[in-house]
Amino acid sequence: MSPRILSAADPLAIEEAATVLRRGGLVAFPTETVYGLGANAFDPRAVARVFEVKARPSFDPLIVHLARAEDLARVSPSDDPRVSALAARFWPGPLTLVVPRRPEVPDLVTAGLDTVGVRVPAHTAAHALIAAAGTPIAAPSANPFGYVSPTTAAHVAELLGRSVDLVLDGGPCRVGVESTILSLATHPPVILRPGGVPREDLEDALGHPLEVAGPADRPLAPGQLLKHYATRTPLRILRGPSGPAPAAPGRVGLLAFSPTTATPGFVVVEVLAPDGSPATAAARLFAALRRLDAAGLDLILAEPCDEAGLGHAIMDRLRRASFRRAEEPEA
Ligand code: TXA
Ligand code: MG
Repeated sequence: MSPRILSAADPLAIEEAATVLRRGGLVAFPTETVYGLGANAFDPRAVARVFEVKARPSFDPLIVHLARAEDLARVSPSDDPRVSALAARFWPGPLTLVVPRRPEVPDLVTAGLDTVGVRVPAHTAAHALIAAAGTPIAAPSANPFGYVSPTTAAHVAELLGRSVDLVLDGGPCRVGVESTILSLATHPPVILRPGGVPREDLEDALGHPLEVAGPADRPLAPGQLLKHYATRTPLRILRGPSGPAPAAPGRVGLLAFSPTTATPGFVVVEVLAPDGSPATAAARLFAALRRLDAAGLDLILAEPCDEAGLGHAIMDRLRRASFRRAEEPEA
């Protein structure tokens, strides 16, 4: 059954969604990265429903979304000058900062950690919703745990159905991959998940190189979980641009980067960047993976992209999506 979907451009819809949040309900809303499944961050019962709806393990903390950087004090006592510098440069935008938490933030939000992940999304409707609700919003991506994140309202409706009280439709997400998560709680700071803000830009702002945290068994950020963002169809990453489809048995689909690739023999080909730009590829990545996943294929082959700028986040998501095949030889 489809949930209620209202246009995010309608001020009355924003008001209604804010009321749902204040009463402890769940609202899926657009951000510039992916759609979020929002609950009042200070309402533990509402937050518990988020975990239930997503079938998400409770060791996986949620990102708290603020309307503006000045609201940070509501969830964190941090007076770290790096936070203000990064906020001034990248907020609103696809950067999550992991900072010390206030004790008022429910344990369920932070998974009992002494830190909280915070960001200010760069999306008019997200900003309007958080401001109207008058409270920080805890929101993971609006997908069942481990699956590809939604970049349209229709994806959310299909994935979560009536378990969400209201969906705000703000059209397709502009960035298309999740926020970059930077932990300032470690010395030196570390990138827990590559995302919409390129590492190079963070290094420029901080004035030193940054490490990207490797996969961990009990992850600091389940964004670090090896198998995540996965399609149901097995996916393998090619070593370079694709040639003709392999003589593999079954139906094979291709996730190509540019339209120049010669692609005979594939049942479906999704071209991520008709204009060759990594930003276009990132914005189209999850929708393309979902279409390939729905095409009744036996295998998805993905072309690799250059790991600079947004290419880092794209390759990170593809590697995780391909993880179940890691024990097999690469195609
Ligand atoms: O772009 C995004 O970040 C989207 C939109 C909706 O804002 N949200 C998102 O949330 O991707 P989610 O829950 O799918 O991923 C959040 C990641 C998880 O891997 C979680 O472990 C990590 O953020 N995280 C949250 N708080 C943390 C903390 N205190 N320490 C370390 N990692 C944290
Ligand atoms: Mg997620």
